[in-house]
Amino acid sequence: MNGDLVVVDDLPGAFTAEVLSAFANRPGEEFDIALSGGETARACYERLASDGAQAIDWLVVNFFWGDERCVPPDHMDSNELLGRQALLEKVGAANAVYPMRCDEGLDAYQLRVGEVGQLDVVHLGMGADGHTASLFPGSRALDADPGQLVSFNEDPSGRNKHPRMTLTYAGIARARLVIFTVAGESKRPALEAVIAGEDLPAARVRAGRVLWLVDGAAAPTGYSGSRQ
Ligand code: 6PG
Repeated sequence: MNGDLVVVDDLPGAFTAEVLSAFANRPGEEFDIALSGGETARACYERLASDGAQAIDWLVVNFFWGDERCVPPDHMDSNELLGRQALLEKVGAANAVYPMRCDEGLDAYQLRVGEVGQLDVVHLGMGADGHTASLFPGSRALDADPGQLVSFNEDPSGRNKHPRMTLTYAGIARARLVIFTVAGESKRPALEAVIAGEDLPAARVRAGRVLWLVDGAAAPTGYSGSRQ
């Protein structure tokens, strides 16, 4: 598998520690982070908002999203709403917030991500089918052109609803650090497949550094590697 795998007891806590470290070691004045959707991410952001509230100067943080469902920003399935409720509204002002808005098309986000150059952190989850962001098995965006940083996409299996906008692999590769957070026994088969080298969407992620933080339930049976 590409990246470092660490089994952790406290996934939100480990995620928060990694974000604080990336913030403290950021090369620039500002800090650019792309948020994920999903319930694992929600728990991570709630902890970051509480434990990181004082440790991060949120006024230099620029928020992006790694993917979004094409729904209104106040829709219960919106990743923007998740990020705002779990993190942004709790930490107060940020330097900038760049939600993905399907109705604006791809160009604006392509330009925005292109202008940043490198993102300090891209946070990703993984579905039980091995998808990450909104890059689903068998979906068109897996084969986006190398210059395309964002794409519309949808899940051909129908398991993951709503049309989507997502960073492509080229967009994700702009990350200095990708942090995967994977929790729960339902994810273990997909994680074991990624470790075994199967070509699942999450396995294709490349970036400056890829760090997999997984809880004990998702960890491969008998895993003897790094633990925190
Ligand atoms: C999305 C997410 C998606 C998510 C995984 C894991 O928009 O659905 O970005 O990639 O991270 O599906 O979600 P859970 O943490 O809820 O299992």
